Amino acid sequence: MQLEIPLPAVQLAAVNAKKAGVPVILDPAPVRDIPSELYPLLDIITPNQLEASQLVGFAVDGIETAQQASAVLQQRGVSTVIVKLGDRGVCCTTASETFFVPAFSVQAVDTVAAGDAFNGSLAVALAGGQSLRQAVLWGAAAGALAATKAGAQPSMPNQETFTKFLKERGIR
Ligand SMILES: Nc1ncnc2c1ncn2[C@@H]1O[C@H](COP(=O)(O)OP(=O)(O)OP(=O)(O)O)[C@@H](O)[C@H]1O
Ligand SMILES: [Mg+2]
Repeated sequence: MQLEIPLPAVQLAAVNAKKAGVPVILDPAPVRDIPSELYPLLDIITPNQLEASQLVGFAVDGIETAQQASAVLQQRGVSTVIVKLGDRGVCCTTASETFFVPAFSVQAVDTVAAGDAFNGSLAVALAGGQSLRQAVLWGAAAGALAATKAGAQPSMPNQETFTKFLKERGIR
């Protein structure tokens, strides 16, 4: 989910997902205050740097501050925090580890919707049983591909483009 839909709807969906054992991923965009009772219902939250800054109240501008922000969000009850760092990559913090996935080097044209491509690909990978690391890698690949094309929806890679890209970059 993301926050273009009303918060009560997000909250109700998260409560029901939790009851049904369905993992919940929230992209907190456009950013706004998240009620304290929503955080513990989130398995993964995926802010970009600006969103992370606004949620925690201090500047997030790199890996170190992303890790600090992740710790704050985990204290509020989220299990896993993935901070999207634009063309630098992704900082992912779980209960047991933090890892960084550098961005794929591409000829960027327009990064609008790179984050949305990231989230879509992350969700597809996790739903298909991939590890979190692999899912983050897939997200970064889809985000990079989206950055190579103008627009939002038209920049989303299809399966064929995505698979070809992974192969070219030596990723299974
Ligand atoms: N210029 C780029 N080159 C390579 N990869 C990129 C680039 N921009 C974004 N990405 C990949 O996509 C991910 C998500 O992008 P970004 O951090 O811009 O998210 P976002 O701000 O939520 O984007 P949006 O909300 O516009 O969809 C990044 O973490 C990175 O892995
Ligand atoms: Mg975004």
